[in-house]
Amino acid sequence: MRIGLLGAGFIGMFYTMALHDKRGRDKVTVVYSRTRESAEKFARQWNVPHATTSMREAIEHDEVDVVIVGLPNHLHKEAVLAAAAAGKPVMCTKPLGRNAAEALEMLNAVEAAGVFAAYLEDLVYMPKTLKALKSVRGGAIGDVLWVRSRETHPGPHSDWFWNPELSGGGALVDMGCHCIEIARSFIGKDIRPVEVVCWADTQVHPIEPEDHAIGLVRYENGAIGQFEVSWVFRGGMDLRDEVAGSEGTIWLNHWLRTGMEMFTAGGEKEYVAEKAESATGWLFPVGDETSALGYVDMFDDVLGALENSREPVETFYDGYVVNAIMDAAYRSCESRKWEPVELAVWRGRENVENIAVRREYDDDHFLVKRERMPDGSTKVILRNKATGEISQRID
Ligand SMILES: NC(=O)c1ccc[n+]([C@@H]2O[C@H](COP(=O)([O-])OP(=O)(O)OC[C@H]3O[C@@H](n4cnc5c(N)ncnc54)[C@H](O)[C@@H]3O)[C@@H](O)[C@H]2O)c1
Repeated sequence: MRIGLLGAGFIGMFYTMALHDKRGRDKVTVVYSRTRESAEKFARQWNVPHATTSMREAIEHDEVDVVIVGLPNHLHKEAVLAAAAAGKPVMCTKPLGRNAAEALEMLNAVEAAGVFAAYLEDLVYMPKTLKALKSVRGGAIGDVLWVRSRETHPGPHSDWFWNPELSGGGALVDMGCHCIEIARSFIGKDIRPVEVVCWADTQVHPIEPEDHAIGLVRYENGAIGQFEVSWVFRGGMDLRDEVAGSEGTIWLNHWLRTGMEMFTAGGEKEYVAEKAESATGWLFPVGDETSALGYVDMFDDVLGALENSREPVETFYDGYVVNAIMDAAYRSCESRKWEPVELAVWRGRENVENIAVRREYDDDHFLVKRERMPDGSTKVILRNKATGEISQRID
């Protein structure tokens, strides 16, 4: 595939590393950036044949088969609408829009134009997450009841993230989108997110938007997604997920305890890992960042989907749902109450059953709990089906 990359910043670089290094047969052929200097610098560094300061020229270029949007959040809509108007397949980084209204406009534009579109949510393609999703979908942990997803670090690397006019908000919109989609992936993207409660505050930085937020998303089947995002966390980037099911548990640590731990008194002269705060003492380097963050598997999926005319794992519709959940979270911060998730378009299941389970013990009782005691006996806690009375006995 010949790629027109919009944006020559941090994500543009990660995307290009993943595209050029791994699949090999894909190539960024045109790069667009605001200034000629940065477009040409990027083109030289990554061996890109054409550099331009015109977004339209990059999109319409005859050596571009697919457009990848890696621009600040306020430019996603303009870029996607331009790609749709040009009839070019388009892939957009997260968050899809600054809010659900923008995301819906983008979804409608690509669908009306009939162009392929993918939402580039790399963190659902992290190798450990792919493995965990396979286990969950195979039934290994029963019904998913609670997914806790965390992304925290000391704050983003460019000015526009900190300006809510351009970004759409603070840590919540920047990283909540990842955590929400991770939870949806485990719970089931066809299960309707019903309501959200969220706390957010500006604890450290002299900025308007929140630099810390924690929220709960309740799904129609009773499952809970919990997101924890922060721009005030010290010590690098903490990227962890926990999945609690009726029959099992999965804990995932993607960044600070990945199995590689290194002590250096003299100091690491090279880059350590994304958002690492120190280069001496105990370090937690990451073997292959583009792969560990999911970029390699993500491009394998989305470019494969485009080639084979199938849907990618992450669609613009998913991006829209995520934006709608974040909108509800912002409303909840204001009202200090649970707020409904407003979805003008719902494409999942309706009236799903609640996942609460009732385990049979005998004709008269449900089993509440069974536990082996220190003396070797097994104690059971029971609930009488008729009266609701709770009792215990030794089995
Ligand atoms: N894991 C991920 O998926 C991930 C990680 C980081 C960033 N992102 C997303 O990627 C997008 C870009 O973020 P980034 O970290 O690369 O930012 P960045 O600041 O590093 O780079 C942004 C690029 O856009 C250009 N730009 C900035 N303002 C512009 C303007 N007004 N007009 C035209 N071009 C402009 C910059 O020159 C630069 O080339 C954001 O939407 C961000 O949320 C995704």
